[in-house]
Amino acid sequence: MTRTIAILEGSLRKASLSRVVARAAAGLSPAGLEFIVLPNPGTLPHYDQDVMAAGVPAAVEAMARPLSRADALLIVTPEYNWSIPGALKNAIDWLSRLSPNPLEGKPAAIWSVSPGLLGGARAHGPIRHVLHSQDMRVMAKPEVQIGAAREKIDIVSGTISDETSRSFLTAHLTRFRDFIAASV
Ligand code: FNR
Repeated sequence: MTRTIAILEGSLRKASLSRVVARAAAGLSPAGLEFIVLPNPGTLPHYDQDVMAAGVPAAVEAMARPLSRADALLIVTPEYNWSIPGALKNAIDWLSRLSPNPLEGKPAAIWSVSPGLLGGARAHGPIRHVLHSQDMRVMAKPEVQIGAAREKIDIVSGTISDETSRSFLTAHLTRFRDFIAASV
């Protein structure tokens, strides 16, 4: 049975290292998974309860619809100031206020990417914390932190040039596929 993973990106910028990784996931996947990249968090307005009261913005619906149909969520993101990038948190805030909530109960995994050596490791805890607030089942291990990313990712061709990273991501997706099957 094929499972669908919705990918939520944490970076808004065009030359994003983490976006290259997000877009590479489908090509690195084992059989039995398909991927949809959700609209970028930069498409959403700032969360505002007054805006919400006037009606859910179309951009939020456009993110929520494919996520609702997906079996799982994969967040691929940089670390900002040892934590979750604001636009990513904003997206989760919007999604969490919908009824039904498309995040609730879904299996999830986190991939972080950084030019620094720690690979965005410090963002995992804060992101996991937020996802747990939505009763999401977050796969804890193995953790994916791609450090020294400028040496491993070719922005011009949009590819991961580092073979070790590529095979680790394939192994992670294989494990995530089993985790999803056990969760849904
Ligand atoms: C960063 N960056 C960063 N890197 C890191 O490893 N730990 C950190 O805490 C931060 N903090 C941080 C805050 C802000 C506001 C910015 C803009 C950047 C650097 C960051 O990892 C780098 O710019 C990445 O290339 C951003 O990811 P994308 O956009 O390339 O995917």
